[in-house]
Amino acid sequence: MTLHARKDDLQAAARRHLWMHFTRMSAYADQDVPVMVRGDGCYVWDVKGRRYLDGLSGLFVTQVGHGRSELAEAAAKQAGELAYFPLWSYAHPRAVELAERIAELAPGDLNRVFFTTGGSEAVESAWKLARQYFKVIGQPSRYKVLSREIAYHGTTLGALSITGLPAIKTPFEPLVPGGVRVPNTNFYRAPEHGDDPEAFGRWAADEIERAILREGPETVAAVYLEPVQNSGGCFPPPPGYFPRVREICDRYGVLLVSDEVICAFGRLGYYFGAERYGYLPDMITCAKGLTSGYAPLGALIASDRLIEPFLRDTNTFLHGITFAGHPVSAAVALANLDIFEREGLLDHVRGREAAFRVTLEKLLDLPIVGDVRGDGYFYGIELVKDKATKETFTDAESERLLRGFLSNALFEAGLICRADDRGDPVVQLAPPLIADQQQFDEIEQILRDVLTRAWQRL
Ligand SMILES: Cc1ncc(COP(=O)(O)O)c(C=O)c1O
Repeated sequence: MTLHARKDDLQAAARRHLWMHFTRMSAYADQDVPVMVRGDGCYVWDVKGRRYLDGLSGLFVTQVGHGRSELAEAAAKQAGELAYFPLWSYAHPRAVELAERIAELAPGDLNRVFFTTGGSEAVESAWKLARQYFKVIGQPSRYKVLSREIAYHGTTLGALSITGLPAIKTPFEPLVPGGVRVPNTNFYRAPEHGDDPEAFGRWAADEIERAILREGPETVAAVYLEPVQNSGGCFPPPPGYFPRVREICDRYGVLLVSDEVICAFGRLGYYFGAERYGYLPDMITCAKGLTSGYAPLGALIASDRLIEPFLRDTNTFLHGITFAGHPVSAAVALANLDIFEREGLLDHVRGREAAFRVTLEKLLDLPIVGDVRGDGYFYGIELVKDKATKETFTDAESERLLRGFLSNALFEAGLICRADDRGDPVVQLAPPLIADQQQFDEIEQILRDVLTRAWQRL
């Protein structure tokens, strides 16, 4: 079969049979499905042979970059040795080694690793653990979870109840009871203390205390926070925010869950975002970068205190997932962490993040760019209609701008990133951790060109 014929077959089969995630399928009635076939370093190629700079690491996943044959070899070796065995009352060497290694990397006494296959399951598992833990220790009325407005914590019904995006929740209501929203840390649109980040951080943390008191502390199990909130376009924590949240959680006996599905494994220049911002959570949820996407894997990392009652008597955490901690995925994760160490990827991100920021901030001279925010290799660029007043776009304009123009134009220009309007319209960037000035410049130039054209079309 010729390449051309294969391409046409793939296209027809994709349109007929593949259901893409979070995708408006009607968009592909008269447009090709983008079919990606190959990757190398920071770049990927589609079936037509066109090259793209992967400015989103797939989906905040491919930390070490594409095309790493040693990760493929680690997977093949493990599949040949022991392809599968469950963690239901058995162990296998790679899961043990990986749990030990993660515990060494994780802060404080976060020493116990419960594997999952991805992020939503990790988030959901943490909620289930919190609920059962409180029942076991004699506080059975604690089941609620606080999380922030517009924050994304996954799509399974439990994780969706923790998610703070009404648009993706309402079709599935009624959801799991107990999800409570608190304000996020969008300083650009701070409702209070917009000129004082510390006061804003205090206010945002105190809103968590107010919510706990409103709900009744004896009913609240956990607070879920990302180190940098992704959805809405990268909201870093204001100074003092996390230490104050920690104090509040301790005051009311509430668990602090750091949802690091995006932020862990180098995205912010540290193995865990909690380290970067100097707080110690009771649980960390992670996935994505743990394997750099060469195999699926997630994890819930729990403190010694949380496992302690489950080490006694007949107490058992009544939860499990067939493929969680899969031997092939665990082997890949170990090889992935070897690359992190050998190539000094955390130092690389810490050393280059200022240059990434400076390069992106050049875009602030464009009238459509209102804010450039983020940390590490994780940035959001907020688009506005009026820079002086920070006026945003109407829903119709946003639809025309993001779906009608930007997403396609950026892709056509060879940049994979995300034009998102889960909050206000933003372009999100999270390149592989091996990216350097050449990629920063390429991102800046493509964005400059496409955003200039977007502004002219408004
Ligand atoms: C913070 C956060 N939590 C949870 C999830 C859900 O992870 P998954 O898609 O692997 O289920 C995501 C996914 O992007 C995420 O960003």
